[in-house]
Amino acid sequence: MEVIIQPDADRAATLAARLIAARLRDKPDLVLGLATGRTMERVYARLAEMHEGGGLDFSRAQSFNLDEYIGLSARDERSYRHYMNRHLFARVNIDLAHTHLLDGTAPDLKAEAVRYEALIRTAGGIDLQLLGIGEAGHIGFNEPLSALMSRTRDKALTPTTLKQNAAMFGGDLEKVPKRALTMGVGTILDARELLVLVTGAAKAEILARAVEGPITAMVSASAIQLHPSCKVIADEDAAGRLRGRDYYDWIFRNEPEWAAFRD
Ligand code: GLP
Repeated sequence: MEVIIQPDADRAATLAARLIAARLRDKPDLVLGLATGRTMERVYARLAEMHEGGGLDFSRAQSFNLDEYIGLSARDERSYRHYMNRHLFARVNIDLAHTHLLDGTAPDLKAEAVRYEALIRTAGGIDLQLLGIGEAGHIGFNEPLSALMSRTRDKALTPTTLKQNAAMFGGDLEKVPKRALTMGVGTILDARELLVLVTGAAKAEILARAVEGPITAMVSASAIQLHPSCKVIADEDAAGRLRGRDYYDWIFRNEPEWAAFRD
């Protein structure tokens, strides 16, 4: 794992977008794993700008999102399908038929999870999985005690997550769906590369536990320590509780793979 700390949220998101763009240029038929949440809005805005500027082609790319609320249809503006269409898909030249999300209205949720896993396999697996971390320590919607080998399935959301996401539902906790479909921790770890973006002081404690704490199902984000190719990008506020800071900064300043991203 490598941890790259940037001065602010904007710079952190820009670096994440530049990394995604570099992978897409190297492999135009990239299979991207995508995440939602406020943290990612800036990343998608940067990618859209790069596309509009003529430098980024999504025409052969495919995408798989991490999760979706159960009970919300694609037309519901609070659904993650709607979020993705709004923030990214409508702004770049990706073929909508190549963008995949779990269907939160599927009548048989287990069958939907099996379908999604099969679809990822058929696509050849995910090349680059973008991840945020929730205040409950989750990646996707893998709430505490999610098995580190779990696959795509339905999960009940914790009170912490319901509270964190209530803003998208007019601040009304009662309106937040109580369950979601999510890739499992094992599904996420199967991706060939992980890119984790974490910003803001509210995430400082959970980021330190994910990156430097013991690997535990209580913090599903700590499973990223098991992945052989994982990059974490944080802003100063989120990095406030990390103990290995000096070494992380040294890596960014000195390792050749980061040379193109230092300015
Ligand atoms: C949400 C999503 C996660 C996301 C996380 C952080 O609940 N299921 O995929 O990464 O929580 O959200 P935010 O960026 O809004 O803090």
